[in-house]
Amino acid sequence: MVIGRPLFTVEQIQNRVKELANSISGDYEGKDLLVVPILKGAFMFASDLVRSIKVPLTIDFITASSYVQTGTSGEVKVHCDIRENIRDKDVLLIEDIADTGITLNYIRERFLERGTKTLKICAFLNKKERRIADVPLDYVGFDIPNMFVVGYGLDYENKFRNLPYIAVFKKTK
Ligand code: IMP
Ligand code: MG
Repeated sequence: MVIGRPLFTVEQIQNRVKELANSISGDYEGKDLLVVPILKGAFMFASDLVRSIKVPLTIDFITASSYVQTGTSGEVKVHCDIRENIRDKDVLLIEDIADTGITLNYIRERFLERGTKTLKICAFLNKKERRIADVPLDYVGFDIPNMFVVGYGLDYENKFRNLPYIAVFKKTK
């Protein structure tokens, strides 16, 4: 297993996260914002993002997974749900990466059923080519081609989440 070249450096990430936070701050002025990072992958992105958001917010977490190694199983499991009541709230889901879109689509639909006032999605990375579920993304950090990446919260078999940058991942036999 090797970590390949950095795709996005710490500086590029931090600059982009600030831009996203500025857009979000503008859009949620005067609203009742509830930020929901999808764990584990979104923990690092979300912690940077919320520190730059200038409007009051509440935060709650959901733990979900759909991915098996470098292929998606297509089945979403919610291991730990949020505790907040989301009825009539302006909810912003935070995800590390939109790949097939199945995870985001599943959580989005479950949240809409609970009667949110608004529901938007912020994904740090977007692998458009791989999309199966047509889920709307309101804020995207970076579009990337169909390659497997690790770092900044993203893992391979639960490792490499702690890298402060995004690296291309290559599996060696
Ligand atoms: P989706 O349901 O197929 O969109 O899968 C989303 C999840 O797959 C993400 O939250 C990640 O955990 C994982 N994933 C997708 N692509 C990558 C990648 O390139 N590196 C690490 N994890 C990935
Ligand atoms: Mg994930």
